[in-house]
Amino acid sequence: MTNDLYAVIGHPVSHSKSPRIHSLFAEQTGESVEYTAIQAPMEDFEGTVRDFFERGGKGLNVTVPFKEQAWALADKRTERAEKAGAANTLFQDKDGALVADNTDGCGLVRDLVNNHGVDLAGKRILVLGAGGAVRGVLGPLLAEHPSELVVANRTLARAETLASLFAPEAVDTRLAACGFDQPDSPFDVIINGTSASLKGDLPPLSPSVIGDGTVVYDMMYSLQTTTFNQWALEHGAVQVFDGLGMLVEQAAESFRVWRGVCPGTAAVIETLRTD
Ligand code: ATR
Repeated sequence: MTNDLYAVIGHPVSHSKSPRIHSLFAEQTGESVEYTAIQAPMEDFEGTVRDFFERGGKGLNVTVPFKEQAWALADKRTERAEKAGAANTLFQDKDGALVADNTDGCGLVRDLVNNHGVDLAGKRILVLGAGGAVRGVLGPLLAEHPSELVVANRTLARAETLASLFAPEAVDTRLAACGFDQPDSPFDVIINGTSASLKGDLPPLSPSVIGDGTVVYDMMYSLQTTTFNQWALEHGAVQVFDGLGMLVEQAAESFRVWRGVCPGTAAVIETLRTD
């Protein structure tokens, strides 16, 4: 029997851990899956996607910088992809329509709640950033019913836009937008969704956002403690996590969407840490 073909598509893509993660899932579940990486030319994402499915490909993960294009290209979108405004998962339905899904937010929440035991219900959450990465996670975070969710961003207008967009989802959550200079009391959970760490930068936050029990999550991951998590530890955060678990969890949810099988994630996260 030949394997079903999947891939991650991005530019660049050679650094992606997705082929490794999905081959571990395939090994673990016995699913007949082959998973590769495709670097699409910047000017022809659409052609590369169409060609992949014409060649019989079953599903794609989409990474930087194509997530918004993937969303726009799709014939149909899941509810969570619709709201996220970006897609990290593509497949064809039984009629051949291209469907876009987004599993990033689900991945973040599962990593926090299931892997790290951080209950979000009734909690005060501070989310830093208001780009595509944050838009992708706000719906699933609100679905956990925090008491408050504050979106803080360097450019206030972008945070305000997201707060308006997600207001209908904030049924029992006080949802607010602000700049980095405003939050000054401790939060239960702080999630860094800015790309500042990529440049070794720190959002200029008051350390008073960190209290005795504050848990900090950086959506970035790296071998060393991220710049943001280092700052949080220095100011008394009780626990800090990076985004490796989120990466594995979003992959597991994509695998489930494609295959109908839920792979275990704990051993895969452990393997990636020690790769
Ligand atoms: P992504 O898809 O990673 O979210 P993006 O849409 O470009 O990428 O958003 C990047 C986010 O990181 C934005 O919130 C951005 O702030 P602005 O909206 O003000 O641009 C934030 N960001 C990037 N560099 C930053 C820095 N050096 N300090 C603070 N925030 C930064």
